[in-house]
Amino acid sequence: MIHLAKPWIGEDEQRAVAAVLESGQLVQGPLVERFEQSVAALVGRTHAIAVSSGTAALQLALRALQVGPGDEVLCPALSWPSPAHAIRVAGAKVRFVDVDQDEWNSTAEALREARNGNTRAAIVIDQFGNPARAEQIREALGALPIIEDAACALGSRFASGPCGSLGKISCLSFHPRKILTTGEGGMCLTDDDDLAEKLRMLRNHGQLRGEFVVAAGNFRMTDIAAALGLAQLQRLDEMVARRREIAALYRDAWGGEIDLQRTPDGSESNYQTFGVVLPQGHDRDTVREKMRERGVEAGLLSFAIHKLGSFAGSEASLPIAEHLAARGIALPLYPQMRNNEVEAVVRCLRGVLHE
Ligand SMILES: Cc1ncc(COP(=O)(O)O)c(C=O)c1O
Repeated sequence: MIHLAKPWIGEDEQRAVAAVLESGQLVQGPLVERFEQSVAALVGRTHAIAVSSGTAALQLALRALQVGPGDEVLCPALSWPSPAHAIRVAGAKVRFVDVDQDEWNSTAEALREARNGNTRAAIVIDQFGNPARAEQIREALGALPIIEDAACALGSRFASGPCGSLGKISCLSFHPRKILTTGEGGMCLTDDDDLAEKLRMLRNHGQLRGEFVVAAGNFRMTDIAAALGLAQLQRLDEMVARRREIAALYRDAWGGEIDLQRTPDGSESNYQTFGVVLPQGHDRDTVREKMRERGVEAGLLSFAIHKLGSFAGSEASLPIAEHLAARGIALPLYPQMRNNEVEAVVRCLRGVLHE
């Protein structure tokens, strides 16, 4: 079976994790801070706050920005549900925004149009590692706080700098499906000293300088996870470069035959997910099932979040997100994948579509 994704765990990772286990300092040791500093330097941000997942990063970002009941937050309609769920968990209203047909991210115009008097923040996603149009979005939203959901986008670049540099707070995920993994894990990035202090307080039971100042949970990252992340970080460039090579092979193989995600000129994707939109007349689940029978695991591309049970009753109509969710599949792509496996995936999908 050619799997959809596979974390690249080598001897360095095993040694790093074993060293933490031997040290006995499994949490609140020195490695979390070292990992934070390394990621902050890589993305060019002043502060990095490591947390227990990408979802936790989004929840803490909204809380740090004091988003709550009565507020609305803009959110792309095509995604894993975490950003929209985080808005709900904060007690605020999700204002879904459709995505662009070609780039699969929400555009500056769509965000500007969806904004109203209650809008307190916008979540902007670099979907599947494809950079959003950062410069245009920044200009369109002015002073409105942006939470950049760069869960999938470590190693991707806007024309103006690394993904993870757009948000007042930018959020990363280190889930094993992502570019770099810590098992479960996430991070908030910011240049704002006060927000950084708040985020550190909120991830740690609401403690500030030894006092419990607000009621909050435990969203800390373990030193085991940070050790894994630090070891992975050594290979980030290699991992992203190989992902780009594989994506180029897929792109060449499909030509204009199938709709693919387009990256804005001047930007670079890390290809966290390689999606294809099936042509009319092909049922997504049947195609995935037939591919599985032939030894290739293809994933669901994503979700039209407003159509999920957690948003039952939503009347929103967001046709591009709905189309991509209904017809999109994700093809296997991970750095250790060999060229002959990429060719096998192409043959397999082509065979299923043409039979
Ligand atoms: C765009 C996006 N945001 C947030 C998350 C949540 O990350 P995590 O699984 O680390 O909670 C994901 C995970 O798939 C995601 O794709």
